[in-house]
Amino acid sequence: MILFKKLGFVNTREMFKKAYNGGYVIGAFNFVCLEQMQAITAAAIETHSPFIMQCSAKVRKYIHPVMARHMATACAEIIQSKGMKIPMALHLDHGTSYEECKAAIEGGFSSVMIDGSALPFKENIELTASVVEFAHRYDVTVEGELGIVSGIEEEVSHSESRFTDPDAVHEFVNRTGVDSLAISIGTSHGLVKIKVKPGEPVPPLRFDILAEVEKKLPGFPIVLHGSSAIPKEYIEMINRFGGKLEHAQGIPVDQVKKAVKTAVCKINIASDGWIAMTATTRKVLTENPAIIDPRKFLAPARDAMKEVYIYKMKEVFGCAGMADQGKM
Ligand code: 13P
Repeated sequence: MILFKKLGFVNTREMFKKAYNGGYVIGAFNFVCLEQMQAITAAAIETHSPFIMQCSAKVRKYIHPVMARHMATACAEIIQSKGMKIPMALHLDHGTSYEECKAAIEGGFSSVMIDGSALPFKENIELTASVVEFAHRYDVTVEGELGIVSGIEEEVSHSESRFTDPDAVHEFVNRTGVDSLAISIGTSHGLVKIKVKPGEPVPPLRFDILAEVEKKLPGFPIVLHGSSAIPKEYIEMINRFGGKLEHAQGIPVDQVKKAVKTAVCKINIASDGWIAMTATTRKVLTENPAIIDPRKFLAPARDAMKEVYIYKMKEVFGCAGMADQGKM
């Protein structure tokens, strides 16, 4: 058992309390490789933002659990070596079973999500409560989910979203003991959030559902998945340099900014970082066909991702500078 507290991470409890009271959001950024972790950490350092570094169980396995822990620990150590106190949580995104969550907790994660959203209500409660029971023994925080966020993630596709039923959230939170709750209000994983015809407006998120949830759970941290903006310039860049992405449509930034002012305390971003990395890699390799040193495309790709994360922290989530708000 390797406890997160020895590794320089924090759980999400204090972070979310401060975000809730301060009217900002903690960015939760998905990584699959070293350069993404470097970019996320560099952005947090530059903007003094508390942050969540997260990966799925599949990514944890892809990197290797030991390697993933050491790479994340190195990020925390780099922050400390600069004499900075930037709260960093290491979070398991979309844990699908008790065993996956337990393994992450035993491997140094400070926070886990157990995603029982596709299960019937009662089974979701049972699974989530069992993870909470184990996690809380070690002060690890747990995110549950009610309602289904559609889209494609880790090759798992939910074609239909099922909006969260506000009448169910109180019972779910009470019976499971979760520390935060992901809800479905129209966001979606992956590149195609919503299919709209060219020129057609993107339907707004269901802020009415969010408002109902807030009423039922006063003071409780809410999480939004699938909230990448999918900037057109990166899609065009990918397509210009040999890619083929169709129908890409993200969540408009003004919608996300509106959510920041609510009970939402954590917003997940995977795709926006990934398309910045892929677009930059494609461009650099196409324009410089003789490159064989991976650093020649990885370094610019890392810079591009860092810019994306800085933009989110400063301009969208409002968390820049919040690492300096008292001791965490
Ligand atoms: P995006 O695909 O919108 O970045 O969402 C990622 C996510 O929610 C990870 O859980």
